[in-house]
Amino acid sequence: MVEPIRSTTRAERERALDAAGWNVFQLAAADVELDLLTDSGTGAMSQAQWAALIQGDESYAGSRSFDRFREAVNDVLGFPLVVPAHQGRGAESVFFGAVIDPGEIVPSNAHFDTTRAHIEVREGIALDLPVAAALDPDLDVSFKGDMDTDALADLLAGEDGERVSIVMLTLTNNAGGGQPVSMANIREVARLAREHSKKLVLDIARFAENAWFIRELEEGYADTSLPDVVREMLSEADGVLMSAKKDAIANIGGFVAIREDEVFFKRLQDRGIVFEGFPTYGGLAGRDLEAIAVGLKEVLGEDYLRHRIEQVAYLGAVLEEQGAAILKPVGGHAVYLNAGRMLPEIPAARFPAQALTCALYLAGGVRGVEIGSVMAGRDPLSGENRVPPLELVRLAVPRRVYSSRQLEQAGDAAAEVVADPGSVRGLEMTSEAPVLRHFTARFRPVG
Ligand code: F0G
Repeated sequence: MVEPIRSTTRAERERALDAAGWNVFQLAAADVELDLLTDSGTGAMSQAQWAALIQGDESYAGSRSFDRFREAVNDVLGFPLVVPAHQGRGAESVFFGAVIDPGEIVPSNAHFDTTRAHIEVREGIALDLPVAAALDPDLDVSFKGDMDTDALADLLAGEDGERVSIVMLTLTNNAGGGQPVSMANIREVARLAREHSKKLVLDIARFAENAWFIRELEEGYADTSLPDVVREMLSEADGVLMSAKKDAIANIGGFVAIREDEVFFKRLQDRGIVFEGFPTYGGLAGRDLEAIAVGLKEVLGEDYLRHRIEQVAYLGAVLEEQGAAILKPVGGHAVYLNAGRMLPEIPAARFPAQALTCALYLAGGVRGVEIGSVMAGRDPLSGENRVPPLELVRLAVPRRVYSSRQLEQAGDAAAEVVADPGSVRGLEMTSEAPVLRHFTARFRPVG
């Protein structure tokens, strides 16, 4: 299938961005030339997935499509008990609603924004414990997605340890550069969780990309097959949360899956019925379940995954060549620009990463996403703006959509900003929602 892309002029983009309140989430997709807003649900499905759609069994209860979906989840990931949901945050709602009491602390390497929101709306505390290396954007070392296990050990052994019932890891770490988590770290986190009788739950939105890095970079895995790396990665976990819009290469869908504990499974199913739908469809059409079942297997194809990781690395190389400051090393699904470095004159209070996102759109019709002070939001207790460790702009690559030549347009847009950073104006926020404000906040340029 071929989708036409409309060219736009700078004047058209200026008008569109102004009407969008200087927030690229509010742009019409037709006004975007290279859409690197997200890799979520934006992938192109394969022939095999389209063929599977035709097999969709749309029975309300007990459909064959659900059986195929459940079998794929169990075959690829090793979790027999699965509750489908309409997308990742639906799975988060089902899961956290069943486990979070007010005051509960949920440690992770780094929570993604929707995960944090689902914990915080239930008055829980989403605690990020990244390794120190994760906070140095220039340090080019492997596995910057790891959790700080000393900090986790201290938390679990201390007074607050009683307020923890689950420990999480996000594979790969989306909030911190798409960096992978090593097998050694997963194992150590699992050991600590077990020692303190806590459950380990993994957010596996990008499990295949994480497995690729383990096989390429971690000692002892060069000869292990990707499906075996995945099985080993997940073997320590009690449960997983999945957004099928990423590494199941589907346009919609998600699930919670656990290994055992029929009583807890029943609770998850009951919550699923209220919010997502009957437990054999969970907010999805039978055909969506089919697409996910096929995608979960395709994503571990050698040729696919090599191309995927290399294409994202190529985007990183192009951007660097044009003088952009990027977070090192390049992660699995996106390149993260260091906006603080590229626009040093714009103070944090004037949202440098949001300003850079807007500048890239104006320069080249390229849409990225801010991962900085806007997305960080406000502390739910104090109401103060949170100060994130880094001001980043993520350029996420949709799966199987763009050619590498098309991605070069992002390099050209970055080059314009690099040539004249003084022309980029800071922003003032004029309206914001109380939760997940980055989607709808409005701004105006100042200075
Ligand atoms: N977990 C991670 C690590 C994610 O990256 C996302 C979504 C979710 C959970 C929620 O899943 O969107 O299906 O409800 N990330 C998207 C992104 C939105 O652009 O990175 P969802």
